[in-house]
Amino acid sequence: MKATEIVKVDPNSPDIDEIKRAAAIIKAGGLVAFPTETVYGLGADGLKADTVDKIFLAKGRPQDNPLILHVASPDDILRVATEVSPIVDKLVQLFWPGPLTLVLPKQSHVPDKVSAGLPTIGVRMPDNIIALTLIAESGTLLAAPSANLSGRPSPTLASHVADDMWGKVDLILDGGPTRLGVESTVLDLMEDPPRILRPGSVTREELEDVLGHVEAQILKDERPFLRQVRPGGKYPHYTLDIPFFLVEGEPQAVIRRIQEEAGKYRSQAKKVGVMCSEESKGQYLGCADVIRSLGSRHDMTQIAAGLYRTLRDFETCNVHVLFAEGFSERGLGFAVMNRLREAARSRIIYA
Ligand code: TXA
Ligand code: MG
Repeated sequence: MKATEIVKVDPNSPDIDEIKRAAAIIKAGGLVAFPTETVYGLGADGLKADTVDKIFLAKGRPQDNPLILHVASPDDILRVATEVSPIVDKLVQLFWPGPLTLVLPKQSHVPDKVSAGLPTIGVRMPDNIIALTLIAESGTLLAAPSANLSGRPSPTLASHVADDMWGKVDLILDGGPTRLGVESTVLDLMEDPPRILRPGSVTREELEDVLGHVEAQILKDERPFLRQVRPGGKYPHYTLDIPFFLVEGEPQAVIRRIQEEAGKYRSQAKKVGVMCSEESKGQYLGCADVIRSLGSRHDMTQIAAGLYRTLRDFETCNVHVLFAEGFSERGLGFAVMNRLREAARSRIIYA
């Protein structure tokens, strides 16, 4: 057990002394959780194998799931990747700092632990002042997975990090709620055309505007022969501790189906939760016990921002079962639906 400390930091003008203290912990081989624009990360010196090891241990993360290296400036790519093509330059110009992780050929000095033995390295520059200052002050690059226990929803609040990682990290920098709420888009540039390994806030449509066609068939964990080659698709992002059903289809059909299914559970005296859009929340009054709207179905940024927090909140509501409405897969909806489908796994109902 470590003595964990949590400190509030202003996300717009962080107290430099606090960040320096956090950087000193990183330099000394410790673990610091910090906010990014997507979710909270669990950071350690990414260029030292033994500190990277501590991340895997603290999260209970499978050793074969590679970590992302976080950089403070685009030039840092040259420290870890062997090749920076004009395409990479272009993507960096357009999307960094921001929620885009680029998978590039790895320099040999980067510990194999970080990349889980792969010849590639995932790199991203987060769009968050606390994160960028911490990386710069640490004088290294930060290996940082989402700061949740492996298999739990990613943390979008410092309190989520505390719930999962208390006693396992040295310091949690509390920079308030993360802006975007889903993890970065992971783009594999080793393939031609490039492939989205994990959808995120930089959308397929935005990438295709720059790159032309992009492969985006997300590989599911039921395909073990592909798992070995494409780690981004191997592990589900999270599982909930409540049976979780995702209902997909036309909005009206989805509502009817959830009402029906909820009725079956309630006739057995089971408490039912529903996670839905603002437009339809009124439809579940009287047929569900806990109803939470994620926001308007026409504003996917709002839906994404509140998704993980709402899922975590449901775990404390004592519902026996949770139904979620599906959304359109356009734009950011692709990332949201990817996370919902992974959480539901085989419990997807087509209305
Ligand atoms: O937004 C984010 O990306 C957050 C914040 C903290 O930056 N980080 C994050 O890290 O979500 P993590 O470790 O939870 O997810 C990293 C994903 C995994 O799906 C991993 O398999 C994939 O990126 N990945 C990392 N390096 C890779 C590589 N070299 N090849 C293929 N996939 C890689
Ligand atoms: Mg994660």
